[in-house]
Amino acid sequence: MAFKNLKLRQVSLLISFAVAAISAIALCAEAMVDGWAFQTYMILIPIILLVTTFPIAHYLVDYFIYRRIKILYKLVSTEKGGKELKEGALQEEDDFLQAVEEEVRRYSTSKQSEIKALKRMETFRKEFIGNVSHELKTPIFNAQGYIETLLDGGVEDRGVNMKYLEKATRNLDRLANIVEDLIMLNQYEADATQLDIKPFDITDLTKQVMDEQELLASKKNIELVIKEDAGFQRKVFADRKHIHHVLSNLVNNSIKYGHENGLTKIGFYDVEDKLLIEVSDNGPGIASEHLARLFERFYRVDKARSRGHGGTGLGLSICKHIVEAHKEKIHVRSSLDIGTTFGFTLSTKKHLE
Ligand SMILES: Nc1ncnc2c1ncn2[C@@H]1O[C@H](COP(=O)(O)OP(=O)(O)OP(=O)(O)O)[C@@H](O)[C@H]1O
Ligand SMILES: [Mg+2]
Repeated sequence: MAFKNLKLRQVSLLISFAVAAISAIALCAEAMVDGWAFQTYMILIPIILLVTTFPIAHYLVDYFIYRRIKILYKLVSTEKGGKELKEGALQEEDDFLQAVEEEVRRYSTSKQSEIKALKRMETFRKEFIGNVSHELKTPIFNAQGYIETLLDGGVEDRGVNMKYLEKATRNLDRLANIVEDLIMLNQYEADATQLDIKPFDITDLTKQVMDEQELLASKKNIELVIKEDAGFQRKVFADRKHIHHVLSNLVNNSIKYGHENGLTKIGFYDVEDKLLIEVSDNGPGIASEHLARLFERFYRVDKARSRGHGGTGLGLSICKHIVEAHKEKIHVRSSLDIGTTFGFTLSTKKHLE
């Protein structure tokens, strides 16, 4: 529409023309009644009205509409001082209105993405609370069940009392594990974990982890081996305790989810000033649709199977937080029926703050 983009001056002029035209029509009507006797004032009055209405209309439109737009602009403007305060911007109405339009658009886009992010967080929060309650509920109810049975007389029954006590303990251990994992995860997410970065020998740590997991591996007859790449850099700069946690979870996963008589290989590869550590298994593999979500909290490919192993689905998300706290990366490659490889990097140079 032609009137859509009128400037303040043009709007004022239009109003004054309208007033002048109306007065001219009124005067003509009067003249008609008086038998068309022309008088000078019939031209003079519309001209005077045209000239005097212009500044009044200009002032009123500016005062009631433009000023309010300016205030609204200030309210939505995210830049401190807003563009309208920048030199020269106000002088040009076009610039100003364009700036307002741009700012309002920017404001609305940013609000929309904020709303989307908040909605995502809300869903995430609900899911998280649901997951936590669900994970805590199972061991609590189980332990409660065993203890109640013991209290109801089972304690006298030598055939079941020790077994029930052990089962109750196992469930309480699981509960403690979940809570510990949640606390750890929370600390990582709040960036509250202080890393103690020191040089240490990664092969040493790997051998320690392999020793610790040996018993579990032997139950499934899984062989744990280090695939040594000649001349690789053994010294890494990282927090040993936390990297111990990462390696333990990756090796533990390869055993828990691996096939009987399987093989877990831990390999080291030099990549410039980093060392890539890979834990590979020849287990069942993970379908590609799960890979993107694998590092999410509580995400498990086969929930029943994982829970059966005492898993909470927090292990990999903790690993990710630990590796990222070191400003390094963790990734996964997997093919069904072939196996899975988890890899993460560590610095071989002392440049972490
Ligand atoms: N090597 C692997 N082979 C096949 N599936 C795996 C492997 N590693 C992890 N997964 C899948 O990824 C899921 C997430 O692993 P994650 O370590 O986060 O949790 P978890 O082992 O179930 O529990 P937690 O580590 O807390 O004891 C597992 O439940 C399992 O389904
Ligand atoms: Mg795990």
